[in-house]
Amino acid sequence: MKVDVLLGLQWGDEGKGKVVDVLTPKYDVVARFQGGPNAGHTLEFEGQKYVLRSIPSGIFQGDKVNIIGNGVVLAPDLFMDEAKELEKSGHELRSRLHISKKAHLIMPTHRLLDAANEAAKGKNKVGTTGKGIGPTYTDKISRNGLRVGDILDNFQEKYAAHKARHEEMLRALNYTDYDITDIEKHWMEGIDYMRQFELVDSEHEVNRLLKEGKSILCEGAQGTMLDVDFGSYPFVTSSNTICAGACTGLGLGPNKIGEVYGIIKAYCTRVGAGPFPTELFDETGNQIRAIGHEYGAVTGRERRCGWIDLVALKYAIMVNGVTKLIMMKSDVLDGFETIKACVAYNQRGHIIDFFPYDINQGIEPVYVEMPGWKQDLTKCTSESEFPQAFKDYIEFLEQQLETPIAIISVGPDREQTIERG
Ligand code: GDP
Ligand code: IMO
Ligand code: MG
Repeated sequence: MKVDVLLGLQWGDEGKGKVVDVLTPKYDVVARFQGGPNAGHTLEFEGQKYVLRSIPSGIFQGDKVNIIGNGVVLAPDLFMDEAKELEKSGHELRSRLHISKKAHLIMPTHRLLDAANEAAKGKNKVGTTGKGIGPTYTDKISRNGLRVGDILDNFQEKYAAHKARHEEMLRALNYTDYDITDIEKHWMEGIDYMRQFELVDSEHEVNRLLKEGKSILCEGAQGTMLDVDFGSYPFVTSSNTICAGACTGLGLGPNKIGEVYGIIKAYCTRVGAGPFPTELFDETGNQIRAIGHEYGAVTGRERRCGWIDLVALKYAIMVNGVTKLIMMKSDVLDGFETIKACVAYNQRGHIIDFFPYDINQGIEPVYVEMPGWKQDLTKCTSESEFPQAFKDYIEFLEQQLETPIAIISVGPDREQTIERG
């Protein structure tokens, strides 16, 4: 049995949550391997809409085991709020959601440090989600982190020592005007709440499950262009969002990886600061935002919108070893006369077809333009119903990206998903 990995190839919000939910019936286990509550994964079915942040998107499909792996950073208060909300709507979690003891805890002071770091950056702000992601991963790498397993023994003492260290850092950043009394109380309730879940050595669990013949789907968060090594650094998140992150974030050998599903939108979006070569600042960009409801699932921030960027996608396919593509939000382009796709960059007068080191400067997209299909895709239930111009768009993307598109999504609902033969 192998492990399949599903991840975003753009700047996040590709529609990963929806696809994980759709694919979960084929798997025994769904596991998150990186990121934390910076994620917002939206699922829609039976007229209901759910947004998941730390809990894997396999939680709605029967009795599957869902795992939060060691590579994840977890905020106990936000986790508790999210889990209680699901329990309220009738989704029992405790027996099926396992949490790695090696996952790192996001403390209230990590969130303050996130804000303080952003303030100190002035006009070079990353535009983080403010959830304390960067400072928590920084503590992990500098060997100062507090882990889920720490709550099992002498926790208050450890917490106080970490908090004192953070307070010193905040003073050094001149960030002293805060009161976290209420937040801290809620956070400690979250710690107690977490104790009701199975806290596991997830690397042992996933490898044991594999040996027993179980199949696992790994759910990525964020997207490849936000990867700390390969994304548009420094405008990235603080984890490895690429396929290799599934190995380090769950304790899996690379030889265990089977399919690598790369999720793309039929266009492209980004939230937060940083380069985005195909960004549209005109009416077309506004139209994509309005039709695609391109506002952050968690923060409500406006998403920047633009055409699909095949140069960046080829790079993302390469660093992930993508075997199959899944295209989302095709229906958003239904009404457009023409559709554009970026096939090269003009970098200060030089035409290049690869994603360069200095993506932050002087990139102009070179586009190929195609006729739009001008037809409603949302009711399509099979490939044969697709208009010819949409079929041509799919074929063009497959040729350019040298990777098959296995699934096409034509609306937010679970049912609006077409698997290709
Ligand atoms: P994720 O972070 O990758 O899981 O994606 P988000 O949930 O942040 O953003 C994707 C948004 O697009 C959500 O609001 C989904 O409900 C919605 N969505 C997903 N697939 C489709 C689709 O094929 N068409 C349309 N119109 N919306 C979709
Ligand atoms: P999902 O899983 C889109 C962006 C932030 C910011 C940068 C760093 O829903 O696709 P962070 O808080 O991680 O330190 O912010 O990364 N970002 C996302 N953008 N979707 C996400 O997650 C994101 N998670 C982080 O906007 O630019
Ligand atoms: Mg999202």
